[in-house]
Amino acid sequence: MEHPDLDISGKVCLITGGTSGIGRAIAIGYAQAGARVIAGSTNRQKVDNIKRELGPAGEAIQLDVCDPASVQGAIDFAIKNFGRLDALVNAAGVIKRQPTLEMPVEEFERIMRVNLTGSFITSQAAARVMKDQSPDHRGIRGAILHVASASSFAALEGVCAYGCSKAAIVALTKSLANDWAQYGIRVNALAPGFIPTPLNRGLIEGTPRGEWIKKHTPFARFGDPEELVGAAIYLISPAASFTTGETIIVDGGFLSRGI
Ligand code: NAI
Repeated sequence: MEHPDLDISGKVCLITGGTSGIGRAIAIGYAQAGARVIAGSTNRQKVDNIKRELGPAGEAIQLDVCDPASVQGAIDFAIKNFGRLDALVNAAGVIKRQPTLEMPVEEFERIMRVNLTGSFITSQAAARVMKDQSPDHRGIRGAILHVASASSFAALEGVCAYGCSKAAIVALTKSLANDWAQYGIRVNALAPGFIPTPLNRGLIEGTPRGEWIKKHTPFARFGDPEELVGAAIYLISPAASFTTGETIIVDGGFLSRGI
């Protein structure tokens, strides 16, 4: 039998980047666990697809995490449809591999804007709603889950801006956890290892880099998006009521391996 504190049924969860890859797997996993899900991204076609996949339990909305007005629209949509917002998952993200000497400043800033500033914009908008909601019996009013990366902790060649944005997500997680505990808002992060998705398939599937990664992963394989869902459920569930400011690594052991 499932532990009652792991029950997320009925929780209202907004998932940015929830139309593809890791965010999509979390959106579907939350919906299967009985949560009420709103999945969002910039891509209209993918928004329509995930709405169909989620069925009556879920909703989908076009949103741009870089645009505070668009994010506010998605929060308002969640409140209008479901009455509250229990969890925000920040899974929107972009990457670009490029020799660092050639990377235009604008490109560096674009990646930081989506991956870091976007997570701040959505978190702030969500927290402004969460702080005024009724708390559970331990005083928790909402949970925010960021998506960090193995790149938060170890450098990979040619993805400087991405690594900087993901290292900063760990700091953002700690800062927001400290600032918002007083409102009953928990803030944590998941740091996945290497999961082939539209984001990185071209970089790691069938490439020397991908082979190197597998060789340095104790499980000697990439992960599946579905292998993140259990940890993502835990981190927004009452079972994690005393967990905040934490980044949980789910990487098949990649970062644990020394030389
Ligand atoms: P993906 O490309 O499948 O999904 C990214 C999603 O973000 C897409 O739905 C895209 O439309 C959306 N998005 C991009 N810019 C946006 C914006 N401005 N506003 C709203 N949505 C936007 O990629 P994946 O792999 O599922 O990535 C999800 C998160 O996981 C990202 O933060 C990524 O950095 C992170 N991650 C991925 C890993 C992997 O191996 N795939 C490993 C570690 C972290």
